[in-house]
Amino acid sequence: MLFIGDVVGAPGRRAVALLVPVLRARHGLHYVIANGENSAGGSGITPATASELFSAGVDLITTGDHLWDQKEVMGLLENEPRFLRPRNYPSGTPGHGSAVLEREGLPMLAVMNLQGRVFMGELENPFTAALAEVERLRQRTNLIFIDMHAEATSEKIALARMLDGRVSAVVGTHTHVQTADEQIFPGGTAFLCDAGFTGPHESVLGREIEPVIRRFLTNTPQRFAVAKERVRLQGAIIEINNTTGRAESIQRVSEPLPPEPA
Ligand SMILES: [Fe+2]
Ligand SMILES: [Fe+2]
Repeated sequence: MLFIGDVVGAPGRRAVALLVPVLRARHGLHYVIANGENSAGGSGITPATASELFSAGVDLITTGDHLWDQKEVMGLLENEPRFLRPRNYPSGTPGHGSAVLEREGLPMLAVMNLQGRVFMGELENPFTAALAEVERLRQRTNLIFIDMHAEATSEKIALARMLDGRVSAVVGTHTHVQTADEQIFPGGTAFLCDAGFTGPHESVLGREIEPVIRRFLTNTPQRFAVAKERVRLQGAIIEINNTTGRAESIQRVSEPLPPEPA
């Protein structure tokens, strides 16, 4: 399976459309999951941007703290089974925090989305939420992937260590900076602290550089437009054993998009 880190704006969506088929052919991908929380103009997601990702071959979209930035997200939360919000929202919140993917001739793959609480908005405890949900999902399949959308490295590592041997992989998102700590824990859970982001890397986390510097220099509000140059698709490819659910390999992906012909 391929997991794609936060897709940022139109350049990110273009990278997904052009590079998922390339990666699928190169690696024989069975499932493709993408974090889409920044896919609409860099903030939030709409049914239109989600459908672009689905047409590119994405099977399921996860999100995070930018979930509510576009009001049209309600249509996805209420009607789109291939769309997840963090599982640890209070019960009664629209949408789903986990899903089970099924495709002809392939084993089922469960996916859960969580959001951290360190340096982020207050949600319910992701650790207790994960324990309960993993038990529930394991009644259907032992192939389980988790997108842990969080700021603090400790929170992501601790969550993954807690679930070692009970899920196939935990990959972090949100910081937009890919970490180099991909590994498989002793119990068979693959881990990468942050998948990075898919979009323009000549930027500050996908946004134009100058306004961000101005904001830090002067503390005045700025419009952060999505940047344009040096587009990459970032994420991880994970190989999971069909029977045991253990990860067999995890490999970082940081694939450049060839520049558009002038
Ligand atoms: Fe993000
Ligand atoms: Fe985020």
